[in-house]
Amino acid sequence: SLDSRISRISQAMDIYPNFPKPGITFIDIFPIMRSPDVFSDLTDLLVDHIKQTHPNVEIIFGLDARGFLFGPLIAQRLGISFAPIRKAGKLPGETLQASFQLEYGSDKFEVQKCSAAKGQNVIIIDDLLATGGTMAAAYKLMKDLEADVLECIVLVELENLNGRSKIPGKVFSVIKRN
Ligand code: PRP
Ligand code: MG
Repeated sequence: SLDSRISRISQAMDIYPNFPKPGITFIDIFPIMRSPDVFSDLTDLLVDHIKQTHPNVEIIFGLDARGFLFGPLIAQRLGISFAPIRKAGKLPGETLQASFQLEYGSDKFEVQKCSAAKGQNVIIIDDLLATGGTMAAAYKLMKDLEADVLECIVLVELENLNGRSKIPGKVFSVIKRN
């Protein structure tokens, strides 16, 4: 069932208080991949969700770095394209950039202009929604490309930080935590 999948995924993650800085609680998503069954629970759940709610999606955009762990897998399962949004300075060719504040520090994202055409239906995927700065920057890049963002999907949403309020579109999270 959906609930048993969600609880297996939730139980698989490890929580580290005060990492990488005091006051930050780090959620380690890699243990999900220790078990191929739990990793399948997650990918199946996301694929089912997208098929049911956004069958018209054309491109999955994954966020550097941890969005790269899920995005290509899900795009491949859906039979659609994957494209990266990377930390600045890594992508060749013509690009667009957007800066953002992180829970710890600041950074700049970049996308290749050729990765989506005007009006294409896209979904953005990342592992975590914390303050929402990262996802908001990715959303802005998609708007700059004139793509249609159907939804932003994250594995974990830290609800008390209200990152959702920074995103001008739909947000779907598998697991909500405080
Ligand atoms: C982490 C996480 C999200 C982001 C969420 O990325 O993977 O992308 O923080 O934070 P926010 O909602 O407060 O913006 P980070 O840049 O730390 O590292 P990564 O390169 O390992 O993904
Ligand atoms: Mg990240």
